[in-house]
Amino acid sequence: MNTTCSTASSLASTFAPLPHFDKPTYLMCPPEWYDVNYVINPWMAGNLHQPARDVVFAQWKNLYQHLQQIADVRLLPARKGSPDMVFVAHAALVQHGVAAISSFAHKQREPEEQHLRKWLQDAGFLLWETPRETSFEGEGDALFDEKGQHLWAAHGVRTCKQSHKHVADAWHVGVTSLHLMDPRFFHLDMCFAPLGLGHVMYFAEAFDAASIKKIEAAYPAEKRIVVNEHEATQFACNVINIGDRILMGKVGTDLASRLRRLGYDVAELDLSEFQQSGGSAKALALRLSDSNVVAEKQNVGNRQ
Ligand code: ARG
Repeated sequence: MNTTCSTASSLASTFAPLPHFDKPTYLMCPPEWYDVNYVINPWMAGNLHQPARDVVFAQWKNLYQHLQQIADVRLLPARKGSPDMVFVAHAALVQHGVAAISSFAHKQREPEEQHLRKWLQDAGFLLWETPRETSFEGEGDALFDEKGQHLWAAHGVRTCKQSHKHVADAWHVGVTSLHLMDPRFFHLDMCFAPLGLGHVMYFAEAFDAASIKKIEAAYPAEKRIVVNEHEATQFACNVINIGDRILMGKVGTDLASRLRRLGYDVAELDLSEFQQSGGSAKALALRLSDSNVVAEKQNVGNRQ
């Protein structure tokens, strides 16, 4: 893992017209080579080579088909030797046709960067490189608010705090830094989710006191959905959210009912094989369209 951070930067421009999406559009990577081959987070310990290939594929396909009902889904071909590539959300952060490419903290995930960089470049995205010295793990640690105008970014485990300003500069937006304190919640998207109807769902104990204050200052009490430790360890915050739609792993509490009462349409899916590696729904899909693009109500559910 990187321990020193510098502020060097570079911009690689393709000079292609920037892609624009009228419909929610996501990128997924099939789990062809997915496995737990090494241990870079506490969830992976004890799970080496445990995921069952047939169950892995069935669970991934189920998520893919659910996401296809509310979004267009593109596919990034999987690569042998990159077992975590299925967690494609960590390799970049995309907004307005610009993609900030990750600099993974761990050597094991570095090869994923080049595969996604090539795919995004071929698709016409403008690339914003992040320096190796200031690790940055894409949507894992950087999330736009529901309006797509402000960035929440985490540091403390994977992403380096010095990368936050550099990444926010790609869109000239403000950024709020949050400090992660618990190694089980090594990415922001495991403990914090700004939701489409103006709520934030989060696990407070994953953050230091100053970060909790920042979250509470931005969201009034009635907009906060606080999850408990049991729910957080069931990956409750690792949700795909488009407007009022939520795709999430099975949490096994009344959380889905609570979300439904607040106006969300929730699908709970079994993603246990991916949770053995520390990831759930959100980690398995990278957003390509702007964060505030939502499907027309009447179209939702009509597409197969
Ligand atoms: N094995 C992957 C890693 O450690 C899993 C990442 C899951 N991350 C998440 N935000 N859910 O990088």
